[in-house]
Amino acid sequence: MMCGLLVALAVPGGLAACSSGSTPTGTGTATGGASTPGGATPGGSPIIAALADVPDGGGLIAGNPANSKPLVLVRTGETVKAYDASCPHQGTAVSPPENGVITCPNHGSTFNAADGTVTKGPATAGLTEVPVKVEAGQVVPA
Ligand code: FES
Repeated sequence: MMCGLLVALAVPGGLAACSSGSTPTGTGTATGGASTPGGATPGGSPIIAALADVPDGGGLIAGNPANSKPLVLVRTGETVKAYDASCPHQGTAVSPPENGVITCPNHGSTFNAADGTVTKGPATAGLTEVPVKVEAGQVVPA
């Protein structure tokens, strides 16, 4: 209670930062959730996500610092690929990959996580790849 009071006095609206529970927050699922770390690498590249936050063999949704549109990241070992997360069918944001498949929750189109190609409609085109690379442990635009 004291913590909440102090936070409320020091930071208006900051009560949420001081909960009494110890349950971790976030979306720590096997395939990851959303990631918006921001910032830049020592080399000045805008950070899309920390490599450590992208589940190996899965992926997550992250913001593209170039245009703030969501990207779906797919990690295989130390390699990360990124696609525009907008479904080519009607633009719904796709879900992070599971078992090598990216699925659109709206009408069920599926895409191959390895190359973005459509594997089941109604989408008739694949996901658009966005060039990224890993630099200093961070996923950044290539
Ligand atoms: S918007 Fe993705 S399948 Fe229709």
